[in-house]
Amino acid sequence: MAERETWATRVGFVLAAVGSAVGLGNIWRFPFQVGENGGAAFLVVYLVFVGVVGLSVLLAELVVGRSARQSPVEAFAELAQGVWEHLGWLFVATAFILLSYYTVVAGWIARYAVEGMRSGYPSSVEAADAQFAAAATGVDAVVFHGMFMAATVVVVGLGLRCGVELAAKVTLPVLVVLLVALAVYVSDMSGAETAYSYYLSPDFGEVAANWKEILPAAAGQAFFTLSLGMGVMITYASYIEKDEKIVRDGAAIVALDSFIAVLVGLIVFPILFTAGMPPAEPGHGAVFVSLASAFGSVPMGGGLGTVFFATVVLAALLSTVGLMEVVVSHILDYEGVERTVAAGGVGLTLFVVGIPAASSLVVVDFYDLFVNRVLLVVGALLLSVYVGWRLSNEAAGVVSRGTGGFDGFGRLWLWTLRVPVILVLVVVLGFGVADYVGLVQDIAETFVSP
Ligand code: PFF
Repeated sequence: MAERETWATRVGFVLAAVGSAVGLGNIWRFPFQVGENGGAAFLVVYLVFVGVVGLSVLLAELVVGRSARQSPVEAFAELAQGVWEHLGWLFVATAFILLSYYTVVAGWIARYAVEGMRSGYPSSVEAADAQFAAAATGVDAVVFHGMFMAATVVVVGLGLRCGVELAAKVTLPVLVVLLVALAVYVSDMSGAETAYSYYLSPDFGEVAANWKEILPAAAGQAFFTLSLGMGVMITYASYIEKDEKIVRDGAAIVALDSFIAVLVGLIVFPILFTAGMPPAEPGHGAVFVSLASAFGSVPMGGGLGTVFFATVVLAALLSTVGLMEVVVSHILDYEGVERTVAAGGVGLTLFVVGIPAASSLVVVDFYDLFVNRVLLVVGALLLSVYVGWRLSNEAAGVVSRGTGGFDGFGRLWLWTLRVPVILVLVVVLGFGVADYVGLVQDIAETFVSP
């Protein structure tokens, strides 16, 4: 087996993990999850979810990665017995599917950044609709998907320290500066006051009335945004030195990722409210249409939109890099292939697999719901059962070591993972499967009845 690479610095590891966590989920998906699920009420449920369930599952992934110091497939093969030995394959397969359409959506965004620079954004919803239809399908969508995949291959091919770690160290500070600057800029807009009260003053009656929608959406968003259930954090933790303090690192990852998501809301909602756009339109396309037409109708919208979409491109790149690293690290552990060859081969295969998603929005919806509502939750659930009940005390020991003498934290974490997290995940999976079956039925009906 090849000599295993390690991160140059602990900060490098945390930034790479934050880079994977911060992506389309925070900047594109999050504001519209808030919009579809009642504004501030969703925000509160989401933050509780990220802080308790998200952090617990994140620590479980970090424990597995650091204990085995191998990619997910080999980590479970080494640590686990019986059927658990194969769990890593689920993570690799999920990362593979997610990456195949994530670069398609990231490609749409890259195109929006380029178009905003060239010709600004349309101010009417009809024109924005037409712009989205042109960007999302056809040859151009395939080309942008290919370019995004190629950029991911380059960063992964450069290696852990010179590619992934360096990209995260350079990109994340730029991202935060751009987002803070945008948030300050939009705070003067006419719709800012209304937007802030919509986004920041929760109505808990709303949570009680709509918990069946809010809970699974908040859970799905929490796992997606923290890159959980796909082995990215296992893979990244497999490159850290044994003595790293994973609780501190995990808390930093959760805090930074949530900070960026909240910040993005402070940008998107003032723009939408100023342009008089509803924040609650569902669907992948609606996101682009309403945001682009909002940028088209506010002062300096062209420049603002270009900076915004360019920021999303940077964030998405660090996420695709993490996903590809899961698949590539598996090949490197196993087959002893060159990193550049592994990255190139995986990129080419994923490019081909992603072509249907670049050709039809229905395929993107189909993949996205399957990954978010089913695969990701199954992955997190099985991981929690395995770490909580099988690895149990050994795992609690690893967590406790990182708390500077606060041994009780390891046990508290273990019991949180064992009971509440598992129960919540079972409920969320039930709702998720129902959602997914509903989508499949809708699609089938569309095809049967002309
Ligand atoms: N966390 C990323 C985002 O918020 O866009 C998406 C993601 C990346 C999910 C990597 C899962 C993953 F393994």
